[in-house]
Amino acid sequence: MCGIIGYIGDRDVLEVILEGLQRLEYRGYDSAGVAVMTGDDLEVVKSAGKLSNLRDKLRDRHLSGRLGIGHTRWATHGKPSETNAHPHRHGNIVIVHNGIVENYLELKRSLMLEGHEFYSETDTEVIAHLIQRAFDTGYDFVHAVKIAVSRLEGSFALGILATSEPDRFIATKRNSPLVIGCGKDEQFIASDIPAIVNYTREIKHLEDDEIAVVTRQKVVIYDRNLEIVERSSHNVTWSPIMVEKLGYKHFMLKEIHEQPRALIDTIMERVDKSTNRIILEELENVSELSQVSKVVLLGCGTAGHACMVGKFLIEKLARIPVEVDLSSEYRYRDPIVLPDTLVVPISQSGETADTLAAMNEAKGRGAITVAICNVIDSTIARSADHVLFTHAGPEIGVASTKAFTTQLAMLYLLSLYLGRKNGKLPLEHEHDIVLGLLRIPPLISSVLDRLVELDNISHRFFHCRDFLYLGRGINYPIALEGALKLKEISYIHAEGYAAGEMKHGPIALIDEHMPVVVVAPMGSRTHEKILSNLEEAKARNGKVIGIITEGDHSTPQFCDEVFSLPLCAEVLSPLLTVIPLQYLAYSIAVLLGTDVDQPRNLAKSVTVE
Ligand code: M6R
Repeated sequence: MCGIIGYIGDRDVLEVILEGLQRLEYRGYDSAGVAVMTGDDLEVVKSAGKLSNLRDKLRDRHLSGRLGIGHTRWATHGKPSETNAHPHRHGNIVIVHNGIVENYLELKRSLMLEGHEFYSETDTEVIAHLIQRAFDTGYDFVHAVKIAVSRLEGSFALGILATSEPDRFIATKRNSPLVIGCGKDEQFIASDIPAIVNYTREIKHLEDDEIAVVTRQKVVIYDRNLEIVERSSHNVTWSPIMVEKLGYKHFMLKEIHEQPRALIDTIMERVDKSTNRIILEELENVSELSQVSKVVLLGCGTAGHACMVGKFLIEKLARIPVEVDLSSEYRYRDPIVLPDTLVVPISQSGETADTLAAMNEAKGRGAITVAICNVIDSTIARSADHVLFTHAGPEIGVASTKAFTTQLAMLYLLSLYLGRKNGKLPLEHEHDIVLGLLRIPPLISSVLDRLVELDNISHRFFHCRDFLYLGRGINYPIALEGALKLKEISYIHAEGYAAGEMKHGPIALIDEHMPVVVVAPMGSRTHEKILSNLEEAKARNGKVIGIITEGDHSTPQFCDEVFSLPLCAEVLSPLLTVIPLQYLAYSIAVLLGTDVDQPRNLAKSVTVE
């Protein structure tokens, strides 16, 4: 959480930093701040609340210089006030920090005993003191940083300026993301690529505990023994245009509409068009995959829902038993990793702290890991044994949409691949699913064209305080995902339930004020059962909104409102059923006037436990 950026070069440094912070705001928006080296002094300006507040503050106070750092905060230690906003300054040192210093209280106490005084409630301020302390005892900038960070426990990505060092700054990290962007006579650091992709696509990564000394001409990377490390750069394919709204009111809406393209990009390069078979080059030489005895799928939030769909797919298509676990639970429950266990961590950002830790736990116990990630060079992608990249492109809206459907697409491909490898999936079945998958993007496009039909439903129900979402089988996780979407962007309480469970508790909630959104595509084994659940809801005056299939004449009689989807095989239906649920949440949030792309209390990538 939190976004950091640093720049040195001839551009307007304030401009570069503010623009970068705008692109990082999805990581946290409790406060923002900048520090710019103006002549031989460092000026720090910060503000509580969103970046727009900082911009207002800077309107009459343009800081000009060639070197600066910036921060957008998701508060962990200390309330979201201006005092707690970054950058934090102590003496000669000014820093921005993403992460959590777990032993900061202990460090703070010992520094206070030495006479250090603190003005903020943050863990970060301790780091500035530690660096200054090392400076005071005669160490140079690089050694002072090394000494200071060696005392930290937890996670950090840091941008560090010193007033005595007007021509360079330092970046370092441990367990928090940080990329270096290289340009001609200008260099950047940032928490994520979108912050700098307008200026450079040449990226280097930094390993944990390495120290990067950044000057206008180059970046020199030192390992933890302060030996110079040669690190080559590579070009990212994300372009500046991909991080623009392109006329859409919100990134979320744009990203909902990008799903056909994202799915095509994710699927097409992995299908052999002449045979309609799956090719997963990334896994081609992994012989262990033909004898996997158990699969464990790990993720958080929306990625956790993708895992739940994945369980259905892998068990159905590859006949391998699958466990699904929330990453935050897995790592603490002494999990059993049998020989030939395949662990699949799923993460859009590739930086979710819980998923990273869960994956490392599994690796430590001998599992083979194949990550499904969207962000190249992310920590999970780099730490897994193998990685399958989704090609969703940058997802900026905090509410995940295209990342989810591309994760599902990758799970279809992986299930087919595992089924082929272990000989459990008949060839004709693989062909059928592949052909069905290839038909999905145009079907989604046809659904996107009709989404406005849902606006009437939103108008009717946006004032309700609670929603119930029901689904069964492979669409049960979709009910959970629909409820999560509504909760996070509209702040309406919503619960997802397996429809068969309704009579075991949630039915008590149903009355004439409770909309019940039911995911009921035709062709499922449990369709008739769902109709019984709907009858039960109607008998209690529940208001039923049905996500149904075109041509289904029986379900509408139990519904107050319906949205119809084109017919597709049940196994593929989640790729369609989730689309109206994403839009329903969006449209309700817009009516309520919430901040759709940056909903309160949330951050796009959760890099703390
Ligand atoms: O980057 P990740 O996929 O690991 O993120 C996992 C969750 O934090 C994320 O899906 C979150 O639940 C979204 N806000 C949901 O829309």
